[in-house]
Amino acid sequence: MLTKLTSFATIGLESERITVEVGSTPGEGKIFIVGLGDMSVQESKQRVRHALRAGGYHFSTGLTITVNLAPADLRKAGPRYDLAIALGILIVNGSITLPEAVLESTAFLGELALDGSLRHITGILPAAIACRKLGIKRLVVPAVNGSEAALIPGLEVIAAAHMGEVISILKGEAEPALISAPASSAANIDPELVDFADIRGQEHAKRALEIAAAGGHNVLMSGAPGAGKTLLARAFRGILPPLSQEESIEVTRIYSVANLLPPEIPLITSRPFRVVHHTASGVSIVGGGQIPGPGEISLAHRGVLFLDELAEFPAQVLEVLRQPLEDRRITITRAQGSVTFPADFTMVAAMNPPRFTAGSKERVHRRISAPLLDRIDLTVNVQPVPIEDLQRPAKANGDTTAAVLGRVLKARMRQTKRFTLHTIRTNKEMGVKEIDALCPLKQDAQSLLSQAVDRMGLSARGYHRAIKVARTIADLADAEHIGIEHVAEALQYRQTIED
Ligand SMILES: Nc1ncnc2c1ncn2[C@@H]1O[C@H](COP(=O)(O)OP(=O)(O)O)[C@@H](O)[C@H]1O
Ligand SMILES: [Mg+2]
Repeated sequence: MLTKLTSFATIGLESERITVEVGSTPGEGKIFIVGLGDMSVQESKQRVRHALRAGGYHFSTGLTITVNLAPADLRKAGPRYDLAIALGILIVNGSITLPEAVLESTAFLGELALDGSLRHITGILPAAIACRKLGIKRLVVPAVNGSEAALIPGLEVIAAAHMGEVISILKGEAEPALISAPASSAANIDPELVDFADIRGQEHAKRALEIAAAGGHNVLMSGAPGAGKTLLARAFRGILPPLSQEESIEVTRIYSVANLLPPEIPLITSRPFRVVHHTASGVSIVGGGQIPGPGEISLAHRGVLFLDELAEFPAQVLEVLRQPLEDRRITITRAQGSVTFPADFTMVAAMNPPRFTAGSKERVHRRISAPLLDRIDLTVNVQPVPIEDLQRPAKANGDTTAAVLGRVLKARMRQTKRFTLHTIRTNKEMGVKEIDALCPLKQDAQSLLSQAVDRMGLSARGYHRAIKVARTIADLADAEHIGIEHVAEALQYRQTIED
């Protein structure tokens, strides 16, 4: 007796179709799983045996069961095939019959508990997307994963709490449970979010953050401890434009694969804000592992990667950030092949100012390498605000987060229009080609920049950075052309450490 069920493996962010073939031959009740499954796949035997017994089914009388996970050359991991394996065994040992048409049009994912209930698994959203692509009509998932699968329209989702429930539904003896609507996105709001109006003073830093949010620019804040850098970074999240529907799915997919999707929030609707500590390893930051998974830079995709105390990070860790900052994605290569994760984020970094004794200036140069600094368009010095200012009431303390966000959104709209025929979305992403084509400078703006090159010793890179930032400042001012005032302000955010 032989049967075939469809399931999915996760490779990077993609789902790969896995055919779970189950066959039986006369024998004494053994079960074999072949097809490059790891330890957790092998342990499926014990879980399935128990779950079947708990469900009141005989495992096998006088049968040897062979489970083949195809394609055989792809490594398989995790308990996600439990449900398909259990159903396959029940079919070949004659305990249940399911219509052939149902089996052909259905995919199965789920880990079994010993009592036959279905446990949460990762990578449901990519699997749901793959079903749509492959024309598979129906996806059976654990109840807790139901609303994640239901994000993909046009797919029939059966979310079951128990294996027995799956069988009754597929036989047409029971109705599938209604999938509860995703929790409101309010649950996504960061409790640590700081309102701009609650930060006293710091007009210069706030302005730099507004420009960073408007143009997607990476920003470095340098200032004494207690100056408010971490506070400012927390406020930054609130002035970022909301995620589009398409971006939400993109981000959710990454969190689903990383097993970081809270069951009560199946769709991530606010921009990620990832805080990376300087003790974090290179792998945890860029991703990797035996079966490559996304790192912090991918979890920050379409959002913010916050590197606090930048100078404390080991040089080699900062070095691994260079390539993804350039490419906005990361490719991880393994013997079995390579996977690519998206990593398009805004980097916000904070550090104590370098003390300009010969020795320590050297140190900062060496540790925060020029290639990394090259990707930072805005550098701002943050001075502690005087105590009198801290004591002043919050009222009339400058713009609220909502007001700043309003300006950011307008500036983003200008960019969307500018880049309709291009693959980029924000000014940060402009290369020399786009700068030349899309950033004409007024005469006086041009001469100010030339002077900066001569007098301030602005490097070629610093020159291009200044134009990109000036373009964003002009966008915030709703100006078609970059004027002298935009360039003058942009030059205030140049890197005095490096330029
Ligand atoms: N401009 C400010 N407005 C309001 N509170 C501030 C300001 N600057 C600092 N603080 C207070 O000081 C604390 C320390 O600031 P923090 O952001 O951690 O400084 P840094 O990261 O620069 O060392 C904050 O939690 C906040 O309570
Ligand atoms: Mg801090």
